[in-house]
Amino acid sequence: MRKKIVAGNWKMNMNLEEGKTLVEGVLEGLPALSENKQVVLAPPFIHLASIGEQLTGKHHIHLGAQNCSYEGSGAYTGEISASMVKSTGAEYVILGHSERREYFKEDHAMLVKKINLVLENKMQVIFCCGEPLEIRDADTQNAYVQEQISAELFHLDATQLKNVVIAYEPIWAIGTGRTASAQQAQDMHAHIRSVIAAKYGQDAANDMTILYGGSCKPSNAAELFGCPDVDGGLIGGASLKAEEFLGIVNAM
Ligand code: 13P
Repeated sequence: MRKKIVAGNWKMNMNLEEGKTLVEGVLEGLPALSENKQVVLAPPFIHLASIGEQLTGKHHIHLGAQNCSYEGSGAYTGEISASMVKSTGAEYVILGHSERREYFKEDHAMLVKKINLVLENKMQVIFCCGEPLEIRDADTQNAYVQEQISAELFHLDATQLKNVVIAYEPIWAIGTGRTASAQQAQDMHAHIRSVIAAKYGQDAANDMTILYGGSCKPSNAAELFGCPDVDGGLIGGASLKAEEFLGIVNAM
């Protein structure tokens, strides 16, 4: 059965104490989840090990990082490798977020290297894709997202692809309060699934978890997650308050 996920991307928010308090709140209110459902928390790198300890032995809640280096190890001052992330207990790494693409100039070649390193280190990739507003306005979003997926994922074989989750995050919906409508999300998710099917076959496409991200809140999560091709969410702002995040988890 297809995995469903609600993942919290804290971005560059929360000091250690605030983060630990947030995790306590999430753990306290976490509902019992069926076998195919997971919650993922992606705090900043520097909190991974301590939050990993808080999550030890807890079911259905997993640790993720927001990024990793495109180099494996060595003289790269300030960088964090995939194997370091793995050693904290993290199981997921978010890659290709539009903020990394835009502000840190991450391109196809860098993302291919990062994806390979995460998979080599036996973690799962949460691969973000999504179009800017001008592409949506020109109604060319399907081709834009297809290009991101083919340039950055299509070097993987079908077995490797099983460790990839796709997150569709339209840039115009991130942090803006302007959510994609359920229909816009469903249309893009169905398109992404058809792109996967054309390359890897229908079974692989049916198994692919595709998350929606962009101003997802407790008030719109149920409608978004009710779409047949929306398998959960990647949550920014609303993941910073336990009650809001849990409201979205409950909608899964
Ligand atoms: P917001 O939920 O704050 O719009 O952020 C979405 C996002 O970028 C998650 O990765």
